Amino acid sequence: MTVYQATTSAPVNIACIKYWGKRDTKLILPTNSSLSVTLDQDHLRSTTTSRADPSFKKDRLWLNGEEEEIKEGGRLATCIKEMRGLRRQLEDQDASLPKISGYPVHISSRNNFPTAAGLASSASGFAALVASLAALYQLPTDASRLSLIARQGSGSACRSLFGGFVAWQMGEKADGSDSYAVQVAPREHWPDIHALICVVSDDKKGTSSTSGMQRTVETSTLLQHRIKHVVPERMQKISEAILARDFDTFARITMQDSNQFHAVALDTDPPIFYMNDVSRSIIALIVEYNRVAVANGGKLKAAYTYDAGPNAVIYAPKENIKEIVELIVKYFPQAEAFKDPFGLFGTQGVKGR
Ligand code: PMV
Repeated sequence: MTVYQATTSAPVNIACIKYWGKRDTKLILPTNSSLSVTLDQDHLRSTTTSRADPSFKKDRLWLNGEEEEIKEGGRLATCIKEMRGLRRQLEDQDASLPKISGYPVHISSRNNFPTAAGLASSASGFAALVASLAALYQLPTDASRLSLIARQGSGSACRSLFGGFVAWQMGEKADGSDSYAVQVAPREHWPDIHALICVVSDDKKGTSSTSGMQRTVETSTLLQHRIKHVVPERMQKISEAILARDFDTFARITMQDSNQFHAVALDTDPPIFYMNDVSRSIIALIVEYNRVAVANGGKLKAAYTYDAGPNAVIYAPKENIKEIVELIVKYFPQAEAFKDPFGLFGTQGVKGR
């Protein structure tokens, strides 16, 4: 008997230009474009196995071994339905294909890092889910096409379908058909940039990105300024900096955008605080590290960025990583850094097996 099963893994991505705010909550259409770096470390991935079998009674999903309900009309159900629909189209075109779109699926997904700790687990999770269903259904794997579906699981997931430097273009259309991810540059274009992740806390975050974003869209006037007058130019400038391998500009924009995202969270009513005192002290350390470099006639040596949680991600050219790790360990013995002496991320996006 043929077994219809596929396993795929997808990496975490960390945004330099942050996505924060939805203009359509059902289709997950953002209020601004965003740009991220895909972290291709082996220890920051979600790995997902999907299996279709006529003996299964219904679709089921396990996350880190615990069963999660697949709510009707919810994000998981939407992703599964969309992928099944693509398989059905193939089966309609080619009668020789087995009709597995009619079978229920069982899906098991594991993260090898803390879930919901501001480490973008939903990004790698939904990217791996969509990629594993694409492999199971043997769909043509155009990453931008798949990103349209991963986006409906979790916005930032659409960017994890590519490796390297990735933009999510917000699009204009009401049906979301032009809101997808594109690769700005592959990892090989700028292998010198590394990421250091400092786990300040692996507790589950207080305000989920979904409810936080909604509150921000409803109450923040700063968000309106950001989406109209700030992000479009930053998207353009940071893309140029990546193409030119200009770390100084890349770092400046990355830190400015992290700061503005957290300012927008603070401008929300009631306010949202994702960073804590340790996060802010790490900012102070990187600011001082850069200040000394510039005072000595050099350029910026590191960039911090924070998502919806207290953990720091520090981007820096490889030659500076050792020095930064030493500084962090000296001043923050409580912060656990994911360290990898061979470089903190590699070259690819989604991996199949
Ligand atoms: O995709 P979500 O709902 O997990 O939102 C992610 C939001 C940020 O991580 C804060 C920013 C981003 O662009 O990834």
